[in-house]
Amino acid sequence: MDKIHEHIEINAEEGLSLKFHIREWNRQTDQAFFDYCQLESYKGTLTDADSLSEEEIKRKYEEFDKNDPVDMSSPDHVVFIGETSEGQPVGLVWVCHRGPFWRFKEPLTWIYNLHVVLRFRRQGLAKLLLEKIEEWTRSEGLKLIGLHVIESNKAARILYDSCGYKLAATHKESCFYEKSMAKSNEK
Ligand SMILES: CC(C)(COP(=O)(O)OP(=O)(O)OC[C@H]1O[C@@H](n2cnc3c(N)ncnc32)[C@H](O)[C@@H]1OP(=O)(O)O)[C@@H](O)C(=O)NCCC(=O)NCCS
Repeated sequence: MDKIHEHIEINAEEGLSLKFHIREWNRQTDQAFFDYCQLESYKGTLTDADSLSEEEIKRKYEEFDKNDPVDMSSPDHVVFIGETSEGQPVGLVWVCHRGPFWRFKEPLTWIYNLHVVLRFRRQGLAKLLLEKIEEWTRSEGLKLIGLHVIESNKAARILYDSCGYKLAATHKESCFYEKSMAKSNEK
């Protein structure tokens, strides 16, 4: 068990009544937690994850990452961390300020990943993280948020529905959602 897993397991039992705090990430100190969430979210997209070892999953993820690299060094990328009152990171949302592309006709906030550690789910943290990026979107002068999720990810799709996101497009097993921040008289 690596350090991050260990930390999460030890503290998870206290999670039920915790209040979360959202802060911007620190690229150095939060990198290990970021990598953990990336790998866990990737695992969720694999249909054969149960039959693979952790090492095989890691190798697959590295391959995937290499084929579709994202340069996070630009200030357009921001990660918000959700942590417990004791400062334990238990969720994150990774977003980027992106220009118009494909179906998305205006500059927007793109959600690259939203992840909550398993034992801290269904306590409203993802909702809080989504509220945070709405605030960030407005502060950046943007009026749209977009994201991609695989069709079979029911939890995420119910979450986005319940937070006012609309299904913008589908492609094979992919669903693209968007949420407009524009007030109705601005559209
Ligand atoms: C999707 C995910 C981020 C939700 O995080 P969470 O903190 O548990 O979500 P919240 O507690 O804020 O849930 C808010 C609402 O979303 C819906 N929801 C969330 N998880 C759900 C689930 N497993 N089943 C049904 N509805 C769910 C519910 O409407 C929920 O409200 P309720 O608990 O009052 O019923 C989390 O399950 C996760 O990290 N999954 C793996 C990574 C992933 O798939 N990320 C999305 C990539 S686009």
